[in-house]
Amino acid sequence: MKDIKKVNSDLVEFWNEAIKLPEDYKEQVKNSSDNSVMDLVPAQKLFDAVKELGSCKKVLDYGCGSGWGAFVAASSGCDDVLAVDLGQDIIDSLRFYAEVLKLDVKGEVIDENWIKSAPSMTYDGLVCSNVLDVVPLETAEMIIKEMARITTSNAKIVIGLNFYISEEMASKRKIELVDGMYLFVNNVLRLSSLSDDEWKNIFAPYFDVVKLDHFAWEGEPVESRRIFVLKKK
Ligand SMILES: C[S@@+](CC[C@H](N)C(=O)[O-])C[C@H]1O[C@@H](n2cnc3c(N)ncnc32)[C@H](O)[C@@H]1O
Repeated sequence: MKDIKKVNSDLVEFWNEAIKLPEDYKEQVKNSSDNSVMDLVPAQKLFDAVKELGSCKKVLDYGCGSGWGAFVAASSGCDDVLAVDLGQDIIDSLRFYAEVLKLDVKGEVIDENWIKSAPSMTYDGLVCSNVLDVVPLETAEMIIKEMARITTSNAKIVIGLNFYISEEMASKRKIELVDGMYLFVNNVLRLSSLSDDEWKNIFAPYFDVVKLDHFAWEGEPVESRRIFVLKKK
């Protein structure tokens, strides 16, 4: 990976734009009488895993996007939920949904270094969905190390990851993987493609894997996305 800073800033710009809510959509949601957290949740299995965080005292949704993870934790009983992400438009979306869903979730715009100065042993619940595998590996490793530091010894930790594209599969489908693992679309890093075992090894210095499950988004034929439930070593 050549210029990690540029890769990181390009991808944040991408996600900020992607997660920004158009005004007409917001009007539609505001005028609807049956908004539900489930409208935001990508899959039932993710909901079930994150629901467990409802019993935690303090939950962090790291790289929250629209904040579905934070909303599942809050609606499942946790009354101290913080959702953080790097883009202002992303946190504006989160705050919009918090208001519509009437859920008390705090949202904060952070920078990449926020996690390094977040207080140690603070969160007994943490959800981080589709973040670690859309950033360069070096960034993901830093985040994982800091996650171990900021969580309590008994913390419940749920990590969502995209599917894995092996080099063999990529070459069959004529997909270019930079450095054998990075998928760029229009010059934006969209996937750091690592196998289940490679992720286990990356978590291993800090976390044991309590559970690994696979799931699909609606319409996908195969359950190839990953949910890791971790506990601290
Ligand atoms: C694929 S989206 C996932 C959003 C949400 N967690 C979800 O599951 O729908 C990736 C998110 O990671 C955020 N992100 C990227 N780099 C990050 C970093 N270094 N620290 C925290 N969040 C980051 C992006 O801004 C974006 O909101």
